[in-house]
Amino acid sequence: MEPDVLVLPDPEAVAEEAAQRFSRWAVEAVNARGRFSAALSGGSTPGALFRRLAKEPFRGEIPWDGVHLFWADERCLPPDHPGSNYRLAHEALIAHVPLPPENVHRLRGEWEAERAARAYAAELQDFFCGPRPRFDLVLLGLGSDGHTASLFPGSPALEEREKLAAAVEAHYQDRSAYRVTLTLPVLNTARHVLFLVTGRAKADIVQAVLAGADEGVPARQVRPAAGHLTWLLDAAAAM
Ligand code: 6PG
Repeated sequence: MEPDVLVLPDPEAVAEEAAQRFSRWAVEAVNARGRFSAALSGGSTPGALFRRLAKEPFRGEIPWDGVHLFWADERCLPPDHPGSNYRLAHEALIAHVPLPPENVHRLRGEWEAERAARAYAAELQDFFCGPRPRFDLVLLGLGSDGHTASLFPGSPALEEREKLAAAVEAHYQDRSAYRVTLTLPVLNTARHVLFLVTGRAKADIVQAVLAGADEGVPARQVRPAAGHLTWLLDAAAAM
């Protein structure tokens, strides 16, 4: 299935469109199944979306009691570290909405990567009551090297077909960091996968992912078999 690609004027418009979809999908999922499970992306792009969800009308219309937040990946850092994906979501969203604490399924970045990956996989199996989690929504970003979540070009984690979460060592932007990431089988089982990509610096890699032929680019391997794949781009990233 080809992805839906929507080009919006600027990052704020991307955040607004993503917030409208998050809210709609949350209401639909809670009405249909009693809960909404979302795996959040990290990096800087989703901050605008998180801040929007923490404000009206979204704050008031989203059924937070039924919302369960997970992460698509996490850096192996303490939760209060500036580089923590959890910290970004906590400061921009979680601290401002009536989300029950037990609905926040934090990836333990303060633990050694393999231990954190095992614990996270166990929590996923427990929450989804089975071997294969099906998220209602997986939010993803795109690195300038084509990585998404913490699935980097050439990483053995890209070949993982059994584990739900993998420990990786990532060399990106001149820094090496241990991380934990959801694996492709989990990403590709989601009901909705939503990429948020903004900025001129991403235009070339967006073109390579959406129109290129190099299957080795990690983000090209995200194709939910029975779900919807949507890319929200601002005009600069779509140039
Ligand atoms: C991470 C993210 C990663 C991110 C991309 C884009 O932990 O770094 O999960 O996959 O989405 O690197 O990051 P920016 O939004 O900062 O460009």
